[in-house]
Amino acid sequence: MPSSETVCSSLASRLGTSPKERLIIALDVPSAAEAQKMVLQIGDAAVFYKVGFQLFTAAGPQIVRELTQSGKKIFLDLKVHEIPNTAAEAIKSAAALQVQMVTVHASGGSKMLRAAVEAATSAGQTQGQSAPVILAVTVITSLADEDLHELGLNVTAKEQVARLAKIAHGAGCGGVVASPQEISEIRKTVGPEMLIVTPGIRPVGSDKGDQSRIATPADAIRSGATHLVVGRPITKAANPSEAAASVVNEIATA
Ligand code: C5P
Repeated sequence: MPSSETVCSSLASRLGTSPKERLIIALDVPSAAEAQKMVLQIGDAAVFYKVGFQLFTAAGPQIVRELTQSGKKIFLDLKVHEIPNTAAEAIKSAAALQVQMVTVHASGGSKMLRAAVEAATSAGQTQGQSAPVILAVTVITSLADEDLHELGLNVTAKEQVARLAKIAHGAGCGGVVASPQEISEIRKTVGPEMLIVTPGIRPVGSDKGDQSRIATPADAIRSGATHLVVGRPITKAANPSEAAASVVNEIATA
């Protein structure tokens, strides 16, 4: 099993490898005002935030601009799944927002993934800054083996995850999103360079919510995750800043 040290790739170094830079807080809130309020409450305890469908649909790119302008790093979780040209144009727009990471669906296929990677790289060069990392989502964790069979895929979710991770690696994606249970297998498939960003994190004693395949921050880091996505255990905590600091501390000691 790789240690967190062996996965500190050049890509990870570019994004920052301090424990605080490895925690991404999911800003799953319904408005820009609530997002700003949460970021203010968390204060210096975190620097990296995930903006997903809920917030992006409600508040649009402006909230991303405001957060990046105030020095926050952003993981824009758009899960793009489109024809290559449209995917590339969406990635260009995301790159203009100066985000650090954007998600695409690996099941969009090699052509779409390569188009996304090329669009990110060329947008980075044009803007004279680092290109956003293209993260591939393999099999979303709510899908079980029987759901894949229903879709006509005669494989287990685990096999499909490994297959899609390999395709994402071959297409030049910088990382994958994976559940804690998949980290070790994916790391074996994609080698040390790719980022592995892991949701489904639950510090000991916190509420599981609707997540089923969970791990503690320390276990996920020890399995080879480069970044952890944590939402409700921090955003719903009585003191979000303390909750974030405690996860950062657990990352540091792992
Ligand atoms: O609140 P919680 O910690 O469960 O939030 C996890 C975040 O990670 C949510 O924004 C969720 O959409 C996202 N996510 C996930 N499982 C995946 C992919 C993304 O929980 N497979």
